[in-house]
Amino acid sequence: MRYFVEDLKNNVGKTISLKGWVYNSRSSGKVKFLDLRDGTGIVPCIFFRGECEDSALETFEQLTQEAAIEIEGVVREHPKHKGTFEIGAKNLKILSPSVDYPISPKDHGTDFLMDNRHLWLRSKRQAAILRVRHELISAIRDFFDGRGFTLTDAPIFTPSACEGTSNLFETQFFDEKMYLSQSGQLYMEATAAALGKVYCFGPTFRAEKSKTRRHLIEFWMVEPEVAFNDMYDNMELAEQFIEYIVQRTLKNRPDELKILERDISKLEPVKGAFPRLHYSEAAQLVKKENPSFVIGDDFGAPDETIISSKFDKPVFVHHYPAAVKAFYMKEDPREPGFAMGCDLLATEGYGEIIGGGQREESKEVLLKKIKEHGLKEEDFKWYLDLRTYGSFPHSGFGLGLERAVAWICGLPHIRETIPFPRLYGRSYP
Ligand code: 4AD
Repeated sequence: MRYFVEDLKNNVGKTISLKGWVYNSRSSGKVKFLDLRDGTGIVPCIFFRGECEDSALETFEQLTQEAAIEIEGVVREHPKHKGTFEIGAKNLKILSPSVDYPISPKDHGTDFLMDNRHLWLRSKRQAAILRVRHELISAIRDFFDGRGFTLTDAPIFTPSACEGTSNLFETQFFDEKMYLSQSGQLYMEATAAALGKVYCFGPTFRAEKSKTRRHLIEFWMVEPEVAFNDMYDNMELAEQFIEYIVQRTLKNRPDELKILERDISKLEPVKGAFPRLHYSEAAQLVKKENPSFVIGDDFGAPDETIISSKFDKPVFVHHYPAAVKAFYMKEDPREPGFAMGCDLLATEGYGEIIGGGQREESKEVLLKKIKEHGLKEEDFKWYLDLRTYGSFPHSGFGLGLERAVAWICGLPHIRETIPFPRLYGRSYP
């Protein structure tokens, strides 16, 4: 039987063998210590002369950081710290050496760590972030699957733009010009008409030539879409969704959040209902603290921080000026010039994590917007069909997974939220 560090609690007293890597090692007089890391956890292994083979002590002297090893020993509960375990080592084998491992506990600087991202992932902190990411992914799926949504993933090769043409990645599809998807939304509008409640969850691409702590070039987005939901139903869904994924991560990942030194008292209040601000109210708040803000413009990152700093829960901003929003947004017939879009700003200055709203269902209005936005009508023939054959009010949103991971983990920069980030100026490793 193969054992992992995570299995130790059920095997106290047994002699077992573990395989993994050297995380740390040190000697003190007659005792030698080694921290073995196997991906499921880290366990201290203690070598006492007399208790272990002499050959194990000799092998110990050749250990280097991140060498692959196999260790045999007895599982013991730590005498002082109940619930933690150690190995009373008997035998030690080096399976494969590691020479001059480049990452040590000293401060290396971000560029160096990013160049060595493939190795940096082995650190405790990076592993904790990836576990939280994994928890969020499964919480996202469980939330929608448990509410009758069907996963209908969208294509990555797309012939047309969804979120404006300025940040499209152009590519080839044999002889045709194609783009990498900026969002699966338009396709979800089609599948929503087939299945009612749908979502997609996949990679999306934005060719944004800016280096900020919130922007990735390639990021994962989950996008639900619901037939006959209006903007208010959409906010309710987003609110329940965020509460669920945050509270579940707090419940299931306390150890990881502790490693990350996350102040969880800031996440505990993340439960519905979330405050809702009309754009005009939010703009007034911003104007007070940032007099150079022009009412009618979209909010920049510092403006979003001004708004969210007033609340201990995420806050919705709805009814943005139609001019700053995408072509598909429905203008409110009661408030011409304002779009029924609703974005959710996270707490603690993490900014917009959700963008969404109600979609335009009139074919005539959509045709006009497509032209105004400089898009080609023939690219949207299929999309306009949704307005020809039983058009229906509908709404949805997109949550950027990495922005959510950064917020929930309390990270200063989005680059650590994905195993191999693609940033402006970085596509290696
Ligand atoms: O606000 P956005 O652009 O909305 C859409 O794409 C809609 N079509 C979604 C929908 O209604 N189905 O993006 C949605 C979210 C943002 O709130 C943010 O969390 C994330 O996607 N996002 C990014 N995350 C990382 N890097 C980037 N460059 C991002 N751009 C957007």
